[in-house]
Formats: sequence, structure tokens, C-alpha cells
Amino acid sequence: MAHYAVRESPPLRGEISISTSKNAVLPIMCGALLTSGDVCIRRPPALSDVDTLCSLLAACGCRVAREDGALILTAESFRNPQDEEDVRKMRASVLVLGPLLARLGEARIPLPGGCAIGQRPIDQHLKGMSALGARVQFDHGGVTLSGRLRGATIYLDMPSVGATENLIMAATLAEGTTRIENAAKEPEIVDLAAFLCSMGARICGAGTSTVCIEGVPSLHGTSWQPIADRIEAGTMACACAITGGELLLRGARADHLRSLLFKLSEAGVHIKDTPGGLIVLGRAKQPFEIRTMVYPGFPTDLQAPMMAVACKTPGTSVFLETIFENRFMHAAELQRLGAHIRVENRVAVVEGTRYLTGASVQATDLRAGAALILAGLCAEGETIVEDAGGHITRGYDHIEKKLALVGGCISRTA
Ligand code: UD1
Repeated sequence: MAHYAVRESPPLRGEISISTSKNAVLPIMCGALLTSGDVCIRRPPALSDVDTLCSLLAACGCRVAREDGALILTAESFRNPQDEEDVRKMRASVLVLGPLLARLGEARIPLPGGCAIGQRPIDQHLKGMSALGARVQFDHGGVTLSGRLRGATIYLDMPSVGATENLIMAATLAEGTTRIENAAKEPEIVDLAAFLCSMGARICGAGTSTVCIEGVPSLHGTSWQPIADRIEAGTMACACAITGGELLLRGARADHLRSLLFKLSEAGVHIKDTPGGLIVLGRAKQPFEIRTMVYPGFPTDLQAPMMAVACKTPGTSVFLETIFENRFMHAAELQRLGAHIRVENRVAVVEGTRYLTGASVQATDLRAGAALILAGLCAEGETIVEDAGGHITRGYDHIEKKLALVGGCISRTA
């Protein structure tokens, strides 16, 4: 089991290089199944989710190689995953559905169960595939989609990131034109569409709520550098807001982080947007209110790190979580460090306190784990973050090394 030992740290100072985005690279890796050509993904982040997806793609017959730090995926001949366990390991593997169906005419995956943060159904993915002409059959805990895809107009009941990505990928090789209405607008969708266009796909409107895809007979290989991880950058900005100091977040893009940057500014943290990245300066001094929303609203993935900031910020901060139904599990763990938090359904009220004290706490999910590490940086004594599920390495590329380089007192064992 991974343990992170964190001690109260001086103000963080220096430069952190932001890794390639997890949420951009995973759909792009699945998109490699849409062509028989080589797809080179430059600077993939060192994350266990990337390794898990590599194993899944390899198990489908896709060639997976690493050359000069890049990932090369070649899906010349491949098949559906045979071992359902490979798919179950990671929720994002549902994103193979669109590419498998588009290329092979048939796709089967086990239905994902609920996860710690909520039920996370895939009804919108399936509704969209069905509108594209796929036959959808449920049996033995899985779902099988089959048929030739034809362009159609699809209305999503909610702007799901994964459903938008899956449907864009499926539609690239469908006959005719597809319109996805009420599509998600996250920067990772814009990046996926640009990546697919570099393979010969015809997509417009990505980043708006209507995406149009004109199907083409085939796609070709490409070389792609996905965008920097806005959630990692936002987490590091929160670390600075907790300890004070000055961090240059190299590669971070202000245009992808507007909602967080406004909130940090409201809290009294200084932000400078420079050509090399974002500079974050000083500690949070005033409380704030956060309502998680789809992009460009405040990202649910930064709710937990921002709650760690609120724990030490004088005054009353309020959080409303609108995306996932069970995403406050870090609150109970933060309370073990001395935080004052009341949770009622989807609302958490945090009274900032001057003192947090170290304790043993559990990383219940990926972002919760990061929030506990951040709180440990300002808790007296030692905080041990136990990560039995290996959540933190799923989504943070060497968080302990990056924080230690700027003065954070943190080490990891196992
Ligand atoms: C992606 C991100 C995740 C982030 C989330 C919300 C990746 C790999 N993961 O997850 O980090 O927290 O966006 O920004 O990019 N829903 C349905 N039916 C569906 C699909 C979704 O009801 O068919 C619901 C979900 O249960 C959830 C909400 O819609 O409550 C948002 O989910 P979605 O946008 O699909 O998130 P993911 O793509 O799973």
C-alpha cells in the first residue's frame, strides 16, 4: 500500500512542470484504435491509469511501444477485450466502445459499476450509439453494440464528457454527418477533436455545445502532444494558496483554469499569466463559495483540493457539488486533521481554522487523496495519507517529487 508522509512545510517556492493531462491522454489513446496507422503520443504522463489503458489496448491486439519517451500505438489488427477484468479496472476504458464499434462493427464491455464518488451510469453513451444505428444488447453484466454506423442528430440529456468523447470518436467513421447537441465543452474534448482532425477526421464545433462530425472512410496515423493537465496545475495552485510562497506552474494555461483562478483571486491569492505558465503568489486570506459545474464552471475535480484550502482560510466557505452525488468523502478525513466541516447532502460548509494537526488519513479517491496531501502541508506534525487503492498515482505524476522540489516536506513509501 502506498503511504505519503507529509509534514508542515514552509511556503512553497520554485517551479513545477505540469504534466500532460490524464483526461486528455486517455481518450486520445482510445482514439488510436480508429486507425491502422501509427499514433505517436508525445510526453505521456507517468500515471497508473495510462499503464492500465496500455495493458487493455495491448490485450486487444494493439501494438504498444515506448520510444524516446513517447507512446506509439498501432491498431493494425485487433479485437474486443477478452478479459473483462482489464476493462473493469478503470472507468475511462468505457471510451474504447466508440472506436471498437466504428472499426470492428461490434463492441462489448462489462457495464461499469458505481464508484466511490457516485453511480456514474453510461446511458448517454449508449443512447448516442443507438441513435447512430447501433444495436444495444445487455447480457451477463455487459453490453454489446453492433451494426454499421450512420450519422444522426444526438441530444445528450446532460453534457457528459465521456459520452461526448465516445460519440465523437464513433461518428468519425460513420457514414454521413452527426450532430451532438448539449455536448460537453471541456478543453480535453477540444484536444481530442484536434487530435482526430490531425488523423483526417472532419469535426467542427468542439468546445461549444454543438459538435458536428462528417464521417470519413478511414483515418491515418499522427503524432500528437496533448494539452497540459489543468487539474494537476489547479491542485498545485491550491498547494500554494495553503502554504503561501510563489510557484511558477510551467505549461499551465490560464484559459483552461479561469473558474479556479477567479476563486483564488477572490480569496486574496495573486495570479500572473506569463508565457512560461502561471505564477501563483501568496496564501488564501478570505473565504469563498464554490459551485461545481460543467466547463467553464468550477471543475468537480478541483472541489476537494479547494476544500483543503478552505480548511485553513479564515471565515466560512461553502461548497455545492452538483456533478457527482457522493464527492465529499474527503470531508470526514479532513476533519480528522482538525478541520471544521459540516456536510448536508450536496453542500459542505467549512469554517477555516488556524490549526490543523497531523493524523493518519485515507485517500478514498484520487482528488480526495490530493486534498489530504495539501492539508498535510499545513498541519502541525506528521500526516500519513494511506492510499490502499493506489488512487493518487492514477492521476498525479509523481506528486511527492514535484512538491518536494519546491520545498514541500513529503515522501512516499511503496
Ligand atoms: C470525466 C473526467 C472526470 C471528471 C468528470 C466531470 C475523464 C477520464 N474523467 O469523467 O475526471 O470528474 O468528467 O468533469 O475525463 N452521467 C450520466 N450518464 C452518462 C454519463 C454521465 O448520468 O451516460 C452523469 C455522471 O454520473 C456524472 C455526470 O453525468 O454525475 C458527469 O459525468 P461525465 O461528464 O460523463 O464524467 P466522466 O466522463 O465519467
